Amino acid sequence: MKEWTIEERYRVLEDPEQIRDLYEQVSRSPYRQEYHVQPVTGLLNDPNGFIWHKGTWHLFYQWCPWGAVHGLKYWYQVQSEDLVTWKNVGVCIRPDMEMDNMGAYSGSALAAKDAVCLVYTGNHRDEDWTRRPNTCLVKMYDDGRASKLPWPLFGPHPAYTEHQRDPKIIYSPERKKYFIILGAQNKARRGCALVYESPTLADGWQFAGALKVPGFEDFGEMWECPSIEHIGNKDVLLFCPQHIYLPRRGAATSHSGYVLGTMDWDTLTFQPDGSFHVLDFGFDFYAAECAANLEGEDYAILTAWMGLPDGDYPTDDEGWQGCLTLPRELTVRDRRLIQRPLPELVDLRDGEVNPSDGTLPPVCEMELMISEGPFELLLFTKNGEGGMRISYNDAFRMITIDRSGMINRFNTEQEEIREHLIANPLSHMRIFIDHSSVEIFVNDGDAVFTSRVFPTEEENGFILTPNANGRIWKLRPAVKDDFVV
Ligand code: FRU
Repeated sequence: MKEWTIEERYRVLEDPEQIRDLYEQVSRSPYRQEYHVQPVTGLLNDPNGFIWHKGTWHLFYQWCPWGAVHGLKYWYQVQSEDLVTWKNVGVCIRPDMEMDNMGAYSGSALAAKDAVCLVYTGNHRDEDWTRRPNTCLVKMYDDGRASKLPWPLFGPHPAYTEHQRDPKIIYSPERKKYFIILGAQNKARRGCALVYESPTLADGWQFAGALKVPGFEDFGEMWECPSIEHIGNKDVLLFCPQHIYLPRRGAATSHSGYVLGTMDWDTLTFQPDGSFHVLDFGFDFYAAECAANLEGEDYAILTAWMGLPDGDYPTDDEGWQGCLTLPRELTVRDRRLIQRPLPELVDLRDGEVNPSDGTLPPVCEMELMISEGPFELLLFTKNGEGGMRISYNDAFRMITIDRSGMINRFNTEQEEIREHLIANPLSHMRIFIDHSSVEIFVNDGDAVFTSRVFPTEEENGFILTPNANGRIWKLRPAVKDDFVV
């Protein structure tokens, strides 16, 4: 595996031609996706600035162009009319000023009168590598032009550590105020979120206080990518607590999850109604973000990084890593989030195949109706052996996924099994398979399991217990993988 020097990781991209050869190399990978957003070259991590604006979905991702490494981060933009087909638009935010000299880190979007406002963390480092995270603003006008405010909205708060980042911008029409929620870490090294407020977007920002979340004062070492959404009469605090172990999550220490509750913006208190829930029970899911500016409030649209902060993946040697999950629809039911695939995905179906020969097309959707009893599905078997095992213990209502039977094994130090207890008996699954991912929606959105997998050409079989009936459709490509930088 390549060892990267600091100079290589933080090299400035001056001309797209500098990465054309890498793009050609990456394009030849058998693991390039057909209907998931993926990096042109290099590494993709968090989704950023997801917003519906004037008939178009704008989405950005954290991008390091040079290879499968976390280095100088750009905001790369993609667009869609329907959330299913996506095209590459190119770089939108460059780390080209002193305030963001070591990366344009994660952030969010808000629709304003004349533009979409993108708020992000300018990751500044001094010569001695001391970090100073700045909260910065870019306006993206309707003609696509982006203009950066050449100074930060505000700098780091001295009472917290250098880990202050990932602004989520929210407008409160009742208070005629903007709020920014920032992921942070206090001096006792516990995770928290900070709140800033201002009557205007481009200036007047004041520190309002730390968000109070009773019962969550000691929950992880840093909260990355926090956000508060309003879905169906409930407020939802989404965040990624770092460096904690959770039951049935193997040795993983970074988790993307949520707490339902009620937000009081006057006292800056998020009163939880229930415990922390992991958003997705698969292996590779982090930094989830909901789209801003939806019409109506009874649902949200969420996407996430299909990857993990400390992961190595089999495509690293090919010069790329990471992709985004399918956007999914969120609603609240029984004090939990329900996550369903978007109805528009049905349009990707491109011919049904006969499931009886046990062969899996490399890009497909599988739907299973499952009757009582224990259940097992092996995906990506080779001559009837190995593969990824998805099993259900009906006595405990426990779903187990195990990818240790795959030929290409990776991130094994985070362990290869995840388990989850489901609320109702297993009856239904919709499984979306792309060249290097699998997303399993259980019982109409009760639970989702999202994972990267890198099957070899021969790992193309599946085996199902007789208590399940399956249908399989091939899916057509929906992501244009053009070289736009
Ligand atoms: C989460 C994260 C964010 C940060 C970004 C940098 O994966 O660490 O906290 O802004 O990635 O790429």
